[in-house]
Amino acid sequence: MDRIDGILKVTGRATYGYEHRIGRAPAHGCILGASIARGRILEIDVREAERAPGVILVMTHRNAPDQPEFGAAVTATVPEVFTRARPVLASERVRYHDEPVALVVAESFEEARHAARLIRLRYETEPGAFDPVAPDAEIYRPGRTNAGFPTDSEHGDFEGAFSVAPVQIDASYRTPFESHNPMEPHAAIAEWEGDRLTVHTATQTVANIQAGLASTLRVPPENIRIVSPFIGGGFGAKLILHPETICAALAARVLNRPVKVALTRQQMFANAGHRPAMRQRVRLGADRDGRLTAIGHEVLASTARFEEFAEQSAVPTRALYAAPNRRTTHRLIRLDTNRGEWMRAPGEASGLLALECAIDELAERLGLDPIALRIRNEPERDPELGVPFSSRNLVACMRVGAERFGWRDRPLRPGSRREGRWLIGYGMAAAIRGNYLGPGSARVAIDAAGQVTVQADMTDIGTGTYTILAQVAAERLGVPLDAIRVMLGDSRLPRTAGSGGSWGATSSATAVHNACLALRQRIATAAASHAASPLRGSNAIEAHFADGALRLGARSESLERLLARIAPEGLAAEGSAVRGETYRTYSQHAFGAHFAEVAVDIDSGEARLRRMLGVFAAGRILNPKTARSQLIGGMVWGVGAALMEETVLDRRHGHFVNHDLAEYHVPVHADIPDVDVMFVPEEDDKGNPLGAKGIGELGNCGAGAAVANAVYNATGVRVRDFPITLDKIFPGLAAG
Ligand code: MOS
Repeated sequence: MDRIDGILKVTGRATYGYEHRIGRAPAHGCILGASIARGRILEIDVREAERAPGVILVMTHRNAPDQPEFGAAVTATVPEVFTRARPVLASERVRYHDEPVALVVAESFEEARHAARLIRLRYETEPGAFDPVAPDAEIYRPGRTNAGFPTDSEHGDFEGAFSVAPVQIDASYRTPFESHNPMEPHAAIAEWEGDRLTVHTATQTVANIQAGLASTLRVPPENIRIVSPFIGGGFGAKLILHPETICAALAARVLNRPVKVALTRQQMFANAGHRPAMRQRVRLGADRDGRLTAIGHEVLASTARFEEFAEQSAVPTRALYAAPNRRTTHRLIRLDTNRGEWMRAPGEASGLLALECAIDELAERLGLDPIALRIRNEPERDPELGVPFSSRNLVACMRVGAERFGWRDRPLRPGSRREGRWLIGYGMAAAIRGNYLGPGSARVAIDAAGQVTVQADMTDIGTGTYTILAQVAAERLGVPLDAIRVMLGDSRLPRTAGSGGSWGATSSATAVHNACLALRQRIATAAASHAASPLRGSNAIEAHFADGALRLGARSESLERLLARIAPEGLAAEGSAVRGETYRTYSQHAFGAHFAEVAVDIDSGEARLRRMLGVFAAGRILNPKTARSQLIGGMVWGVGAALMEETVLDRRHGHFVNHDLAEYHVPVHADIPDVDVMFVPEEDDKGNPLGAKGIGELGNCGAGAAVANAVYNATGVRVRDFPITLDKIFPGLAAG
């Protein structure tokens, strides 16, 4: 099934936040960021900027509307991180490099940008912490990790078991800051009518933005409408409120005129979050047969001084392999950067990069096939929670993948296969990703013409949400897909948990499913009882919806004719998704196995992907086409994490040096020759009535480790410092 919004997108009719057209011509805002990372503004001279052509307003901390202190929340309906006030231009303090210090609003974007350069600032710079591996770093233990997981876990006697294990791996891996850069930058158009605000923006979760703006502007949430029907990628960078939206709202209020503001690509690196830099120590103790006796995973990650973010990178280790003695910990280092944020597969993406390389190192030490080692340590139940898995088909994924990929043809000895100037290597790794469900609801209506409308504040960040929600409604109501219209991304519609954590499909499709069941009930009851119904007197319990008709017992009538008689105004129903008891009584994850073949240039050390296969077990696949696309996208992220991506923090001045897509390297088409995805059929009725699991992040989980393990297999050089660039491979190659 093709995307139902595909034509709109390729013809330019899908309107994104910044290009939305409103009645009154908006003014254009341009943000000026601080050129220091920590300190305060001593002087800010805006006179020249104010005189520049086209300028309407120059807003700084001296004249910006009063805002609450950072952190205050006016509503507690969603977690505080999403609701808290995030004031901008509110004080002379600078907390991170490129934090907004001024907003220039002008008739055109170019005039605003020009005037922003005319602002003169004098700062008092304070020394800051910018080195995530500094020996004197300020390390502390967070109270919880992201998503509410316990900070540490301890089972059995890890230290004791590890110290006596016949085979030991003790390896530390470094992963860098990474930046998510959706093609559509963060952008907003704000328009006030009296005390009511409408914001057209790019967000994964309209409810979060509404709540955060309400706190920051001291406006009741119900006075704020957030509209975000199309989003050019999110990846976790669009879960919370960012400065452009607040700036637009503040300036629009001051000017009583619509204002639009976008972050520039460069500004996104500092102002829209990042994946924290980490050091991860993995210790594995095993007997000589490869049975794990001890698993330890200790994470040390960067965080911001002013707001904590603790990526749960050791959490996947709690569920992946059996071992009686285990320890996982998370510690944070305070830096003077902006806060880290959720970046596609927070936890697994970084954590599996370490764990799945360590497992490969253990297989090598034992002389075991990495797949055999993993199968040997397959747990019966969740090894830390003690509950059964709702479904777990990791072994099937590895077996199917090994067969399809030709795993048996891999070079058994690292550095042993050469084709001309290229060293060839194969690698694999397991994928695991928690299966979540965020509470939410949806409304489904049918009119007298038989047209169905699905409504929710859910967003489609490019994943295919419009399409799967239409599919679910069409299937449940027994009508063709073209009878369904899906309306999303508007805070006036029923609230959902939005797009995040890969719960978009499971949560929103469940709500639509339940709304359809309620609507069916309503239609059937009316059809069985309404005076004008041709099906009157039938038993409503025996309702059957198919081919655009309702059959009650032996009689049948098309929905169109039926509705026209019994409900000319149409009928509607709401349904909701709730996180049931099964999320406590079962350990719920999606699984997969990645296989990669790389070639490493023997002269330069450059590693290039040759082909890659991902095999996934993720419950019922709602749409194989968009699912495949999501998984390939995730795998490409893994290639980036393994070989290319790193946001470099200047340790003297605290700014991200390579803050654009020329210097921040992501894989391009020429880097991704041949990536394939397969599914292992899986039924799982524990998480939701559709039997679906999240897949948006699954493809990214373990993918980088498969590539890293392939580089090792090609060269015999183990690089534990990501990304694995040629300068890190080369010395080992030269030595070998
Ligand atoms: Mo995701 S990193 O929760 O968008």
